Amino acid sequence: MQIQEVIVLKGSGCYLPSKKVSNHDLAEIVDTSDEWIFTRTGIKTRYIASPGETTSFLAIKAGQKALEASGLPKENIDLVIVATSTPDSAFPAVAALVQNALGLRPVPAFDVQMACSGFIYALEIATQMLKAGTYKHALVIGADKMSSLVDWKDRSTCVLFADGAGAIVLSRETQKLASPQASPETKPLLHPGYSLRVLENKIWTDGSLSSILKVVPGTPPEGGSWAPPYIQMQGKELFKWAVKTVGKTLEELLVKHEPDKIDWIIPHQANMRIVETLAEYLKLPLDRFICNLECYGNTSAASIPIALDEALRSRKISPDQKVLLVGFGAGLSWGTSLLG
Ligand code: ACO
Repeated sequence: MQIQEVIVLKGSGCYLPSKKVSNHDLAEIVDTSDEWIFTRTGIKTRYIASPGETTSFLAIKAGQKALEASGLPKENIDLVIVATSTPDSAFPAVAALVQNALGLRPVPAFDVQMACSGFIYALEIATQMLKAGTYKHALVIGADKMSSLVDWKDRSTCVLFADGAGAIVLSRETQKLASPQASPETKPLLHPGYSLRVLENKIWTDGSLSSILKVVPGTPPEGGSWAPPYIQMQGKELFKWAVKTVGKTLEELLVKHEPDKIDWIIPHQANMRIVETLAEYLKLPLDRFICNLECYGNTSAASIPIALDEALRSRKISPDQKVLLVGFGAGLSWGTSLLG
């Protein structure tokens, strides 16, 4: 019997901080309105972490849920990768804190810092490390506390970003070549019937465009020597780049895999107008895009795994459907992952 090695999604999880912040709440601190934010971005509410809710706290909670959903004993996890641009501190890595908090044995555990594309980068790195045969079960997390990088006096950015974490467990398995289904004993426990394999990942960076979205040093108050760094974004430029570059990338992929073969697209949850423009460009109905940014805002590296987890748990994604994940952000960087 011919068999093949595949990388399979075994479980997923997500975690949002408890504090929900509406557009009306933001209008109390900056000169904005629910109408402006919703029509420009599609965002209504977001979750903002309290000082004690660090990125590692969010990542640990999401990682725990993904681990439980996978049904794997924690001893089996032999790789931990966390995508984040907002680690608790420069070191240790958030992944090290996750490894310890979840009681995993000492294994390679490291962070990947690629902003809003981070989860796709982490997914690709994990896929390659599993495929190489050295590791078997990876916990891959996207977690960000963007509220710690936002200038809360800048209405053009503070209304966009938010906090959260999403996680998946990936495993290398052997499957019979004739059947794409996982064998019964390897089916994910929480999402019965699902057999999502990682089919193809692609990642890119164009550093010549790095100034469009960056974190810059804060301006210290008079007499002071330090102020927190904050996000600086050329919104219109970013919008045009995302629509053009991500649009072309998706177009090529959809042609390659034929439009009807990809059931769902989960884009980075940056901005509903970007998603609408992409849908128009690709001539795809908007309901083929899985979006939750109305409730959660832009959680950077966490946005895709949160949306994926929600779609899996709600059974929006049916067994044997194909899902295309698309990340894009600072770098400027972008990447795709086809699951199915
Ligand atoms: N509330 C009210 N008014 C605002 C706000 C706000 N929150 N923010 C900006 N404005 C004002 C500006 O001051 C400006 O006023 P002015 O004309 O008096 O100078 C006016 O609105 C228009 O400002 P623009 O920056 O031109 O607004 P624009 O229509 O471009 O919308 C937005 C801004 C929504 C950020 C848009 O540029 C965009 O969608 N960009 C894409 C970038 C993006 O989505 N980034 C997400 C994070 S990055 C990532 O995840 C990859």
